[in-house]
Amino acid sequence: MNMACQSSDELEVLVKEARTYTKNGKVADYIPALGKANPNDLSIAIYYPDGRCISAGDIEEKITLQSISKVISLALVLMDRGQDYVFDRVGMEPTGDPFNSIIKLETIAPGKPLNPMINAGALVVTHMIKGNSVEERFQRLLSFVREMINDPTITYNEEVARSEFETAYLNRALCYFIKQHNIIEEDVEQLMDLYTKQCAIEMNCLDLSRIGMVFAMDGVDPQSGKQIMPVDVARICKTFMVTCGMYNASGEHAIKIGVPAKSGVSGGIMGTVSGKYGIGIFGPALDEKGNSSGGIKLLELLSAKYKLSLF
Ligand code: DON
Repeated sequence: MNMACQSSDELEVLVKEARTYTKNGKVADYIPALGKANPNDLSIAIYYPDGRCISAGDIEEKITLQSISKVISLALVLMDRGQDYVFDRVGMEPTGDPFNSIIKLETIAPGKPLNPMINAGALVVTHMIKGNSVEERFQRLLSFVREMINDPTITYNEEVARSEFETAYLNRALCYFIKQHNIIEEDVEQLMDLYTKQCAIEMNCLDLSRIGMVFAMDGVDPQSGKQIMPVDVARICKTFMVTCGMYNASGEHAIKIGVPAKSGVSGGIMGTVSGKYGIGIFGPALDEKGNSSGGIKLLELLSAKYKLSLF
């Protein structure tokens, strides 16, 4: 289990300023169960390698990972299958399109998604998780998440998973298009079952900041000293977070913030500052590109104040 986090006045000031931006956003409701979130919420936890943690806002609030899970499933399949196998089936290039776009699946390298952070690419990645059943594959992914957070109680939100499973027509369309091109072979309903459970893995900001810290430490949990993923896998994941983590806002994010980060439509952002911190943010009101409005502003203020940009 994680230790308690110290509430920070400095972070509170930044949250207060960024909170005004939550008004520019809207909670995602295309997954009906996500529509219940409070659009004014905004919180942050920052985890240090020595186990200290500072926070502001309600960091105990639970959120589902949604697209943040794509970085974790990518790390797992890179370990399972190796880079050559994975990148034969999913590319390495940003799209400049929204996260659920289908257009480049047809116009560029038919059926092979351009990167693992867009939905099409993430579905291919989830397909590659090894195991004999959906249950076994999901348990492997969950164990990996639990290991990163060092918390065996982490699980998924069944209501959110079911809500997405019942309504994910566009993701099913992406799967069928990809299946037509023989990149995936499995039954689409089975893949959707696994993918929607993956996206519904639930945790709080503090847990999210711990995941960011494992990436910041090149795959090592600094507390136990255990190498949870190879250095190369952590490096590839962080690179995708810079180039594609914010979808068609990734260029602007790199210029204005410069912190490798991955967003999800639940309003979560997982950030990672190499060798220094893991960052977990939650603000469910989203901008038009599907990223947390207040969360992005908060990360921008944080990056400017503490000079966190990579560049
Ligand atoms: O597949 C979906 O549409 C969602 N489960 C995840 C999308 C998402 O989080 C995009 N991020 N901003």
